[in-house]
Amino acid sequence: MGIGSACGKVILFGEHFVVHGAPAIAASLNRKAVVEVAVSDSNDIITEQTVVPEMSRNAIAAILESMEIDKKFNVYLSGDLPTFGGLGSSAAFSVALVRALSDEFSLNLTCDEINRHAYAGEKTFHGNPSGIDNHMATYGGLKSFRRSENGNIIKPIPLDRKLHLVVSFTGKFSNTVAMVDSVKRYANDSSDSFKKLFDDYIELELQAEGALEKGDIKAIGNFMNANHILLSEIGLSIEENDRIVETALKAGALGSKITGGGGGGCCISLAKDEMMAHSICRHLDFGGFPSFYSVVV
Ligand code: PMV
Repeated sequence: MGIGSACGKVILFGEHFVVHGAPAIAASLNRKAVVEVAVSDSNDIITEQTVVPEMSRNAIAAILESMEIDKKFNVYLSGDLPTFGGLGSSAAFSVALVRALSDEFSLNLTCDEINRHAYAGEKTFHGNPSGIDNHMATYGGLKSFRRSENGNIIKPIPLDRKLHLVVSFTGKFSNTVAMVDSVKRYANDSSDSFKKLFDDYIELELQAEGALEKGDIKAIGNFMNANHILLSEIGLSIEENDRIVETALKAGALGSKITGGGGGGCCISLAKDEMMAHSICRHLDFGGFPSFYSVVV
């Protein structure tokens, strides 16, 4: 039985804008998807997590085809990365599956090969993924990522101090494909407004990168709030997302925003230190939003 794992991620800045060519900034989460594979008569996913079995089976088939493996597998998914949407769980599943298959057949794949095969799986989940999620699941770290026809542009961001984050679930699973489609419609139907939001985001990202390098957490928090407003203007924030942001800020967070697809899914909030992060977690849990602490180093 081959086994593999991969981490989830949060997007600190730039979800959706990244699909349209802007740079986004993402950090890996210290939570993982773990996958084990066993040869079987058909492809199937076996897990206690909430997944869409048909999508998972399509991803398994796409990855097997990309890796030129002419067999079928039962794929067991476990680990502590929730599949709520927003935390890159489909990409973590894809990367962990490629690693498990590499283990099963002793392929010793390089990270670049793992990332490439995993992207084939991501496409069956997301249609037109930017590639940021599978990159983060493969390599981890804190990175700025810009998609490009001639090879994605990826830059590690040196961090001057730890970032103490709270990750909260709205209670509504995010449908990333539907959200990416709704942004595409907005960009087509309201092209002037979208261009303005896109340009505002580009300006924000540049400054946010500087704030991260300097470890200016107050400024980082303010940029997170500003990013949430831009996402809200495109219609990506539902009431539960806004309630998390409001609750976190009231509880002392320096900033709070949607992370990932939005329309539910998850939000992240920035705390000044670990103690504060646990206090914010408690407020959000109490408000009905299951939350966990994660640190970016
Ligand atoms: O919801 P998640 O964790 O799959 O994140 C999606 C991030 C998007 O920017 C919305 C889509 C993409 O492909 O980059």
